[in-house]
Amino acid sequence: MDNAVNNLEAFWMPFTANRQFKAAPRMFVAAKDMYYTTAEGRQVIDATAGLWCVNAGHARPRIVEAVQKQVEELDYAPAFQMGHPRVFEAASRISALMPGDLDHVFFANSGSEAVDSALKIAIAYHRARGEGTRTRLIGRERGYHGVGFGGISVGGIVKNRMFFGSLLTGVDHLRDTHDPERNAFTRGLPEYGAERADDLERLVNLHDASTIAAVIVEPVAGSTGVLMPPKGYLQRLREICDKHGILLIFDEVITGFGRLGSAFASDYFGVQPDMITFAKGVTNGVVPMGGVGVRKHIYDAFMTGPENMIELFHGYTYSGHPLAAAAALATLDTYKEEGLFERAAELSGYWEDAVHALKGLPHVIDLRNLGLIAGIELEPIPDKPTARAFDAFLKCYEKGLLIRTTGDIIAMSPPLIISKEQIDQIFDILSGVIKTLD
Ligand SMILES: Cc1ncc(COP(=O)(O)O)c(C=O)c1O
Repeated sequence: MDNAVNNLEAFWMPFTANRQFKAAPRMFVAAKDMYYTTAEGRQVIDATAGLWCVNAGHARPRIVEAVQKQVEELDYAPAFQMGHPRVFEAASRISALMPGDLDHVFFANSGSEAVDSALKIAIAYHRARGEGTRTRLIGRERGYHGVGFGGISVGGIVKNRMFFGSLLTGVDHLRDTHDPERNAFTRGLPEYGAERADDLERLVNLHDASTIAAVIVEPVAGSTGVLMPPKGYLQRLREICDKHGILLIFDEVITGFGRLGSAFASDYFGVQPDMITFAKGVTNGVVPMGGVGVRKHIYDAFMTGPENMIELFHGYTYSGHPLAAAAALATLDTYKEEGLFERAAELSGYWEDAVHALKGLPHVIDLRNLGLIAGIELEPIPDKPTARAFDAFLKCYEKGLLIRTTGDIIAMSPPLIISKEQIDQIFDILSGVIKTLD
């Protein structure tokens, strides 16, 4: 048994090249604020907020203490037909933060579950209103909505879909918003491409609005490699949804909780969706939690039958888990007290300058930024897609910088506590590494 700690075989790692990793493992053993500590005792600056989730930085005392206290006080309470105070408080606080009349929250445990919940609510909502023919779901090419069958069906990342059979039926996709010919090296929102929202009109013409329940998009597409919505695109999508009675779902699993310098991307863009899916930053990544914010009229549509009847046959054993609720409350307190969303907004100009200073380095074919997000697109090595960016990832890690890569795109999204000096540190290492790439 002693040997078991040194045996890496049993753990089938997610979204990881298992054999490559196990031959040369990269292990984090501790984290504090902006830095991870590796098993060898090296400090690695976190330019990805873990996986886009540790928005307040690592091991923040208030959150740690809240979770410790909660586990001693109430470790678990059944999620169905029972409650506990903190989950109600968490829902109230989150809905108060959400724009407009998004004033009810359904809890899940991850972004994937949040997305599945939102898609199910959308279909059931139309049925509850007597429009049961509206079952079709519209996603977008290159979209990432987690890995449940709902999420990969509306998602548009080929590798996440191609191995898993026929997926959900009755799904269609808008084109993605990437247009490097016209928009490469844009600072902030791209000028061109709002007309791609009109794809929804095309799909309405093809399927008829009476068959379409909802459209789901990420306001900024993160996991596919940071694609920005062109100016006016999201507004146009909203208008077309309104015209045809289609629900608009913003998947804010990445953009929620300050990433763009506002509570949600919906605030940043001034576009009110009918539902917002969230996860990650809601608990600062400390305890898994996801959820869906829904507008009042959606919730109300379910509250019609006999009062002793369950209104929505959906939920998870750990929906609103006490530890997650405690972590969420302490996280929201931390964001507020430290003004972290405002801080992200203030730093976004400095961040943008640092990103675009990479222009002209070898292999850099596009640079994209918004809030505290960056996408750095590298030219792929012919016949070896992903190899160049992964090489950058390994070299950065050796030099004390954690970045994330997808395809040949480097994505960065640091904790919102980052300082200007730490932004400089990140880009010093990164530019040095890019210069050494084959
Ligand atoms: C927009 C979006 N939706 C959903 C998910 C899935 O979240 P999870 O990995 O918690 O299931 C992610 C994860 O990166 C995401 O970026």
